[in-house]
Amino acid sequence: MIRLKELMLRGTAFLGTEWAILGGAMSWVSERNLVAAISNAGGFGVIACGAMSPELLDTEIAETKALTDKPFGVNLITMHPQLDSLIDVCARHEVSHVVLAGGLPPGGAIERIKSTGAKLIAFAPALALAKKLMRSGADALVIEGMEAGGHIGPVATSVLAQEILPHVAADIPVFVAGGIGRGEAIAAYLEMGAVGVQLGTRFVCAHESIAHENFKKAFIRASARDAIPSVQIDPRLPVIPVRALKNREMENFAAKQREVAQALDGGAIEMAEAQLQIEHYWAGALRRAVIDGDVERGSVMAGQSVGMVKREEPVQAIIDELVEEAASALGARR
Ligand SMILES: Cc1cc2nc3c(=O)[nH]c(=O)nc-3n(C[C@H](O)[C@H](O)[C@H](O)COP(=O)(O)O)c2cc1C
Repeated sequence: MIRLKELMLRGTAFLGTEWAILGGAMSWVSERNLVAAISNAGGFGVIACGAMSPELLDTEIAETKALTDKPFGVNLITMHPQLDSLIDVCARHEVSHVVLAGGLPPGGAIERIKSTGAKLIAFAPALALAKKLMRSGADALVIEGMEAGGHIGPVATSVLAQEILPHVAADIPVFVAGGIGRGEAIAAYLEMGAVGVQLGTRFVCAHESIAHENFKKAFIRASARDAIPSVQIDPRLPVIPVRALKNREMENFAAKQREVAQALDGGAIEMAEAQLQIEHYWAGALRRAVIDGDVERGSVMAGQSVGMVKREEPVQAIIDELVEEAASALGARR
């Protein structure tokens, strides 16, 4: 346990937690209950703002604070049309850590966040971008591989870790995400220079998660190979692939892409609007599955680590198990 604490020290100091384990923001799933439960269990919960309005985010932060006095963060999507107002909401609540997701931050966003006093965590999809984000003022980085659930990049976690950690880990805290299901993997990334990890899929079936029973059942039934990336129908459309469980919704997404591509061709919409429409589509499809429990017509976003989700259990049990596995893996190396 001592070795694990040592390896996580920069991460726990940065987050203000017992363990350097972030509960990755998951739209609709990472709301007050799960976020507070992760923070109360010694990890770091992150609210998924997703497509929320500033008013809704304001309520969510206030309600999360009512459930925990431990640190937690807020994840904002860079392409949200009201990004500045969302940052102002975080500032009013003195949110300690803001995670910026969904592409390179627009001009001014980083400065605006940092001027609130919050620490800024950004996603680095390649070494050059990691260095650029460091120069722009990011306080910590997440490197997330394509094994992850939700929107994904093209490169595997194991490769990103080798490409990025040796070059920047001494200068900035780096958290590794994507495909982590057990503590042995956490131990390995810490030994490679990461200060901590981020997990999403493993927390979906926590007791405290409000995800619909059907959503949780789909996770418990699924194996790694069921979590597949969405297919891009039209190469001109800026579609970021999404990893989700195979189902009927995948066909709906193809139809949606054709519809948006036609509107683009006809000049009815511009590229930025096309991208926004695709993102709104995902937000709606994910809601249908997570909240309404329609796991056929909704999107069941899940990472490849879904095969390691075996049961519904309290967040504390998930974190304890991960910590135990990581500590014993490190202990066995001596
Ligand atoms: C259902 C679901 C929804 C997600 N939504 C978001 C999101 O809104 N913003 C974000 O930055 N990441 C999102 N993610 C990614 C997670 O924050 C996390 O990085 C990822 O799940 C880590 O990989 P893992 O699932 O293999 O643990 C989502 C993941 C899942 C499974």
